[in-house]
Amino acid sequence: MAIRDIIRMGHPTLRQIAAPYDAKKIGTEDFFSLLDDLKETLEASGGIGLAAPQINESVQVVIIDIPGTETRYGETEALPFAVYINPSISVVENENAGYWEGCLSIPGMMGYVERPQHIVVDYLDETGKRNSLTLKGFLATVFQHEFDHLIGKLYIDHIQDLSLFSFEKEYQAFHLNDETEELDGQVKNSI
Ligand code: NI
Repeated sequence: MAIRDIIRMGHPTLRQIAAPYDAKKIGTEDFFSLLDDLKETLEASGGIGLAAPQINESVQVVIIDIPGTETRYGETEALPFAVYINPSISVVENENAGYWEGCLSIPGMMGYVERPQHIVVDYLDETGKRNSLTLKGFLATVFQHEFDHLIGKLYIDHIQDLSLFSFEKEYQAFHLNDETEELDGQVKNSI
C-alpha cells in the first residue's frame, strides 16, 4: 500500500490504450494492492476519480468516489466509492452539455468540455460481477473523463474553444460565472 506518483500530461502512458484487466486476477493480492494504491493516491490528491494509467499502471481499472458536497463543480450528486473494471460506454441520448473539467494529470489547469449527458456504462465491479449504471448530467461527464484515461485520451482533446482552457486562478477570476458554467463551482476536486 502506498501513495503513488500521479503521472502528468506528456508521460506516454497517458496516451496508451490500457490493457483490459484480467478478470481472473480480481480478488488476488495483486488486485487489492492496486486498489489500495489507487484509493490512497486518490485520497491524498483530494480528487474524485482516478484511473490506473494515472499511476502508470496501464490496465482498465478506475475508481470513482464523489462526496455529495460542494466540489469545484458545485453541488454534485453523491456517488459512493466504487471500482469500475473494463468499462464500456453507450450514449443513450446525444444531447451534450458542458462543464469545466480539471484533471489530476494536468494540475493547475481547467477546460470547458461538452460531452453527452445521458449514458449507460457496463463494467465489472470489484467482485468481478458484471454491472451497469445509467448516468446523467455531471456524473455522465465524470465517467467519460475517467474512462477516457483508459483509451489514451485527455479532456484537452475535447476542448472545442481553446479560449476556454485556463489556469485555475484565471478560471476563478474570469470564467467562474461564465454562461458556460452551469454550476457555481469551487475549485477543490479533480477527476
Ligand atoms: Ni483526469
